[in-house]
Amino acid sequence: MLKRPETELTHNPIEETANYDPHKRVALASGHKVWFEDDSKPYIDLIMGYSSANFGHANPNIQNFVIEAASLYDNVVAFTSTSRDHLDRQLITYLEPGPNRLVYYPIGGSKTVDAAVKLARAHTKKSGIISFKGGFHGYSFGAMLSTDEHFVNKKQFKPLPGESISFPFPDRKSTQSKLDASSALSSLDDYLRSHQEDTAAVIFEPIQGAAGFISPPDGFLKDLISLINRYRVVSICDEIQTAVYRTGTFYNHTQSQLQPDIVLVGKSLAGGYYPLGALIATQNFFESIDLSAPGFDSTFSGNLFGIYIANRTLEYAQKISLEKTVKSNGDIMLHILNKLGHFPVVSSIDGNGMALRFKLGYDNQDPQKNKGLAQKVREKAFDNHLIIQTAGIKGDYIKLSPSFFMSVDEFEEAISMLNKSIQEAI
Ligand SMILES: Cc1ncc(COP(=O)(O)O)c(C=O)c1O
Repeated sequence: MLKRPETELTHNPIEETANYDPHKRVALASGHKVWFEDDSKPYIDLIMGYSSANFGHANPNIQNFVIEAASLYDNVVAFTSTSRDHLDRQLITYLEPGPNRLVYYPIGGSKTVDAAVKLARAHTKKSGIISFKGGFHGYSFGAMLSTDEHFVNKKQFKPLPGESISFPFPDRKSTQSKLDASSALSSLDDYLRSHQEDTAAVIFEPIQGAAGFISPPDGFLKDLISLINRYRVVSICDEIQTAVYRTGTFYNHTQSQLQPDIVLVGKSLAGGYYPLGALIATQNFFESIDLSAPGFDSTFSGNLFGIYIANRTLEYAQKISLEKTVKSNGDIMLHILNKLGHFPVVSSIDGNGMALRFKLGYDNQDPQKNKGLAQKVREKAFDNHLIIQTAGIKGDYIKLSPSFFMSVDEFEEAISMLNKSIQEAI
């Protein structure tokens, strides 16, 4: 085996491996478990590839779709397929009924956000982008504009292609959530009144993922869309983390009967095997682009291999009534998670489908200490063979995204490991 010199770093410090154990090497991932080299005992995974492996690692059904897809084609550019027609139809059918929509398939989440920003700017001929505090939309130059400063030090990458102004996003778990919601909407209203002529779009996550699965109070999103519509500004609903059943329904925003102008999907759309993104918008958006030189496609966008896997994966999800499973098991999982509430340091336990979270913190302590606590719990959990993720702009949340096929009993076992880890950390 090749040996690195002692002075050389064994891991790249800008990568997430640095947060866990850079010396661990993955040998195998199956279902909700990960095996590392030289360790026969598996780890329970509650991150699931940041929700890109929602269907369980290396799900045998999806493996078959991958094999079928690979035996048909790899990357045939400039043409479409019947499989794509089916996928377009599926993605549109799950939306609230509305005007004629079209789908475009970029690569990965950030490029899907980039495409939405370009589409909104070209359509409105305006440039300003409004986002929300705690929002996460990716790290490409276009997506980074709207990602909260806490998740990226933007200064080091300047100049960026514009600036985005952000407004507070209310949390339904806050004691004054209704007040927070109306104050956020009224400051947005004030801003739009004087800036509608230079604002192209408002981008939002219906449940903020990286912020710690923050769900807004009932009615907030509906009021938000009505407000945006009043000002001839484009609404972009970023469902890259929430779509594909994470919160029960295929999309999350349909739970509030919303009709955003542009909807974005990514992560596990192609079963975790291909980074397929999808942007769904009404036909007039695409028609407003300069079609003599549109400037959207790239070599792997609209990739028929990924589209085939996605099409079959969504058919499979329908066949097994996945929506029902995620909703009913998600409710039981939230009930189990609530048991952690016996710790005085645990608060704000919340869940929607299988998007679950809780907050860690000593009351009235400085944020650094609470951030340190969440990190410590993550480390203890890892020692106990449990992989979890910290979240939140202050890093004081733990968010859990179990595999859709993890049973309630298996989840309960994971939560007892988490219980032990919290005990050890406090
Ligand atoms: C809501 C949301 N938008 C965009 C992205 C960026 O996607 P990607 O990491 O595939 O570029 C993410 C990734 O976590 C996300 O959660």
